[in-house]
Amino acid sequence: MWSEGSDADRTGESLSRQRTDGRVPTIVCTEKGVVLFANSDALECFETELHSENNEPWRGFLQGKGGLWHDHRGRLWDVSVEESVGPRSRNSLIRMEPALHLGSGSPTSEVDEGPLFVGLAEAAEALRRATSPLEVAHVCARVVRIRFGLPQAGLMTSHRSGWRPLGEPSIKSPEVGEILEECRKRGVSVVWESPSRDIVAVPVLASPTKFTALVAEGIADEARVEALHALAAFAGTMLERNALEDEKRRFADGLQAAHQELLRAYDETVLGWTRALDLRDKITEGHTQRVTELTVKLARRFGFTEKQVISIRRGALLHDIGKVGIPDSILLKDAGLTNDEWDVMRTHTTLAYDMLRPIGFLKDSLDIPHCHHERWDGKGYPQGLKGEQIPLPARVFAVVDVWDALTSDRPYRGAMPHEEAKALILDGSGTQFDPTVVAAFISMLDEELS
Ligand SMILES: [Fe+2]
Repeated sequence: MWSEGSDADRTGESLSRQRTDGRVPTIVCTEKGVVLFANSDALECFETELHSENNEPWRGFLQGKGGLWHDHRGRLWDVSVEESVGPRSRNSLIRMEPALHLGSGSPTSEVDEGPLFVGLAEAAEALRRATSPLEVAHVCARVVRIRFGLPQAGLMTSHRSGWRPLGEPSIKSPEVGEILEECRKRGVSVVWESPSRDIVAVPVLASPTKFTALVAEGIADEARVEALHALAAFAGTMLERNALEDEKRRFADGLQAAHQELLRAYDETVLGWTRALDLRDKITEGHTQRVTELTVKLARRFGFTEKQVISIRRGALLHDIGKVGIPDSILLKDAGLTNDEWDVMRTHTTLAYDMLRPIGFLKDSLDIPHCHHERWDGKGYPQGLKGEQIPLPARVFAVVDVWDALTSDRPYRGAMPHEEAKALILDGSGTQFDPTVVAAFISMLDEELS
């Protein structure tokens, strides 16, 4: 005998307690369909059907792992079955959820609207979650097999001269190709009837190049065909959504790849200019690369964002690009420069600014080429900026540039020992250089040497 809250198998009862939140009609029964437990919502749904002598429809639900139930009030329920293996017995938890409504009207309206219902709330949910056509196909196949009781089902897609399954399993009957062809040509569902088994093909999605149909094999009564239609319509919507999302993803990937390509092209362009200048200026080998790497490293200590670091890097690479506008007679002169020649040489910072300013991708990289000869005490050029008027990237670069010049070999002198160079940098703190930058630089050197 069943009764609410009594005589329930311990396993089944505890299982039902976990699942009865939100007043879901719930029943626990034995594998033979004898009801052990039913909550009050289930009692309300089943009214007279629920008594121990009548173990239908439980048996049907247990065999089909679920199904649909029209209760005495005309409501349609989606019934799911979950097995619970206890220490001594094998019971089943039967849960009921309001059936999915795909048409107009409400899910609790009259049963006469039957074809509008699919009764597969969780199938619809699973379809909504499906992120690929393969998953959509799997959900459809599973729903048709388990819930509709049709032994074989799947989505088939037109493919060149034949058909192929959109996911496993596929229907192997020899007539399937012909039925699908008919379905595609007519654009309507086709039922092939036979005394033992029917085959139904329902259009899911038709595009100019591809046609997809839901195919099921088994007993195709009117109710099942109606349900297949509803499922196919929903699956078609999901496939379209998947295709649209794929398209969006491909577009976004393409944009991202194009953007990366553009960034690479920018960097290669900057490097090309730098190499050209180094060749002409006979810059000490590796100077530009070294000062760039060290500037980037020091800049990171000042909390610049990655985007700003990229701009700083480009600015460091191009710091002396303005020298392309300095005549060879001055740029390559071995002897000391006259005052007038120095005046010309100093124009390389404004030349760089004028040259780089119109170039969009370098608009944030102008600080170093333009201001790397400014001094903290305001005695630098080209604008005589003072203190924090000088952009921070240029203040950082100025320290690194002098450090590298002092510590590398030059044709007219050898490299200065690090301690001596450090003393000179410290000496320039507060006059030539920003004291904060000098402190950060010295601390970085000390950390690297320790
Ligand atoms: Fe310079």
